[in-house]
Amino acid sequence: MSDDCEVVTTTGGARAILDRRVGEVMHPVVGPAVEATRLYCEPARLAARLRGQAPLVLLDVGLGAGSNAIAAWRLSEARDRGERLTIVSYERSLDALTLALRPEHAASFDLDGPAGVAAHALLGAGHHDTALTSWRLVVGELPASLAEGPAADVVFWDPFSPRANPELWSVAAFTALRRRCRPGATVHTYSGATAVRSALLLAGFFVGVGEPTGDHKAATCASVDATDLERPLDPRWLARLARSTAAFPADAPADAYARVASHPQFA
Ligand SMILES: C[S@@+](CC[C@H](N)C(=O)[O-])C[C@H]1O[C@@H](n2cnc3c(N)ncnc32)[C@H](O)[C@@H]1O
Repeated sequence: MSDDCEVVTTTGGARAILDRRVGEVMHPVVGPAVEATRLYCEPARLAARLRGQAPLVLLDVGLGAGSNAIAAWRLSEARDRGERLTIVSYERSLDALTLALRPEHAASFDLDGPAGVAAHALLGAGHHDTALTSWRLVVGELPASLAEGPAADVVFWDPFSPRANPELWSVAAFTALRRRCRPGATVHTYSGATAVRSALLLAGFFVGVGEPTGDHKAATCASVDATDLERPLDPRWLARLARSTAAFPADAPADAYARVASHPQFA
């Protein structure tokens, strides 16, 4: 097995995976299980949406060690019955999940028991299906690989930081994502960077503040429909954008500020 990934202990005492190629830890503070719940499943109201009357599609962008995906998988499998959840996980390297699935690490990554069986099948066959949950893997280079797979109701957007993964925090990437989203879709990401939020707005999403992530920072929620945001960015954010020295991603158009200012969110 490749030694590009290593299991480390976070400052909060949880086990997490360091990817040596980029020098970043996946879910670096409170650890994978808590972050998957707090920053992804809960803001997406996944448990409530899984009690709804229609099948749901979740795009898990950046499978990594599978922590976000398996938290969603476990919520779906905890039901007695209901509509199907389809999780589509996008990833270019299977090293992190392979490492997390090793017998000595699996329990620390919530990959023991039936969840581990599902993740092993995902690695081996590219999919795993139960009566309630379908999990499939798209191996390839994002954002182009987003073209594969069904349209989304929920998106967990969890690449490495904009420093390591600039191509996934661009207007182009979020525009590709917006094309994959159905009405009512919501997008959840740990980053609250101004340039990430402006890129989402430029791609046509409505954008709001997400859960606290520590250090006076907050995550981000975006949506196709304005009414799905609990805390939409407001005119005070727009005023801060005007003063920001890191307002936009590199591929933003020259008239980016005017475009954001005329977004229906700020009307
Ligand atoms: C922060 S980690 C994801 C953590 C994961 N969501 C979890 O819960 O364990 C980011 C992942 O995105 C993947 N990634 C980064 N850039 C990519 C790209 N351009 N195409 C496909 N995957 C990419 C990395 O290989 C890495 O596994």
